[in-house]
Amino acid sequence: MTFLNRISPYLRVSVVMLAILALAGCDAERRKSDAELGLNLQQAEGRKIYDNYCDKCHEPYSSRGKKGPGLKGVFKQQYLSLSGLPANDDRLTEIVKFGRAKMEGFGQVMTDQQIKDLLAYLHTL
Ligand code: HEC
Repeated sequence: MTFLNRISPYLRVSVVMLAILALAGCDAERRKSDAELGLNLQQAEGRKIYDNYCDKCHEPYSSRGKKGPGLKGVFKQQYLSLSGLPANDDRLTEIVKFGRAKMEGFGQVMTDQQIKDLLAYLHTL
């Protein structure tokens, strides 16, 4: 006799429902707070900028692609995955300011300080 046969039909339905919810939950990961991510003030500012300007095209906590490549661990690698450019502050600043072939630049909409804050956040990914 299996486990599911030994419990009441109502409980059986609940068990199945819970299993479905648990499986569905895997993909919808809860958004972590700045504190949970251990972000300092500058990094938290950078995260807001990221959410406003970058998140629609780049996953911050996954290497999965959206419109552009995922940026998880972007500074932890020596070279950027797509272009092969060195993954450093200078190149990233240029990319954010001037864009890439299929990405607009943000030099007109962000101050230098905002770009610095954004990079501080990208360093935490
Ligand atoms: C409208 C979509 C879009 C937005 C918004 C966007 N990007 Fe991009 N990004 C792309 C695409 C597409 C590419 C790759 C295309 C290419 O190289 O021409 C790219 C490339 C990049 C690269 C280079 C990746 C590599 O491996 O060479 C970086 C870094 C980057 N984006 C960071 C950012 C940051 C930071 C922001 C926010 C300020 C941002 N992007 C906003 C679409 C976007």
